[in-house]
Amino acid sequence: MKILKIGALASGRGSNVEAILKNIKNGTLPCEMRIVISDNKDANVLKIAKSYGVKALYVDPGKRKHTLEPEREEEYARILKEEGVELVVLAGFMRILKGALLREFKNRIMNIHPSLLPSFKGLEAQKKAWEYGVKVAGCTVHFVDETVDGGPIILQRCVPVLEDDTPETLAQRILKEEHKIYSEAIKLFAEGRLRIEGRRVRILPKNE
Ligand code: GAR
Repeated sequence: MKILKIGALASGRGSNVEAILKNIKNGTLPCEMRIVISDNKDANVLKIAKSYGVKALYVDPGKRKHTLEPEREEEYARILKEEGVELVVLAGFMRILKGALLREFKNRIMNIHPSLLPSFKGLEAQKKAWEYGVKVAGCTVHFVDETVDGGPIILQRCVPVLEDDTPETLAQRILKEEHKIYSEAIKLFAEGRLRIEGRRVRILPKNE
């Protein structure tokens, strides 16, 4: 099977990137992680990438708070293209994409979000879900478009909210599911089994 070249953008801890790297290493994910880029030079994810022998780069995001400056976004896109990246995975990347990345990687950027979208978009989704009092929380992998946490949904996983949960314990259990479904979604993409039809993503049967 063809090996899919992926690149990750991440801002912090990097547990989702690590889960993906583990699955590549143990042979369950037919991918090669070409590069991990962070907008935060102290991000733990850069250390994780290096420990797996993956190129890890801090790229200045510019002065804006929640987005990349347009020239900076072009730089991100240029580097990913130079690495031959075919799919970009956002893993705790805390900036909204607006320009070059969306243009250059149309329908080829995924994100993981710690809620059952379209509920609880934005930051601290797990805490929002807990405070709202939902009985079922979860996580979502979706394609990224110009909307915030609004692109076509690929996979979701439910996590029940327990009586003695705190936002932190709930977030931990959601994270475990994130680590599973992100690799599952990337694998489906690598196998050519995702077809975007408007808002819906059709998962095609496996070609034996
Ligand atoms: C994850 O829970 C991810 O879903 C979330 O940030 C965390 C990053 O953890 N992303 C968002 O909230 C995006 N809106 P990680 O760095 O350990 O993968």
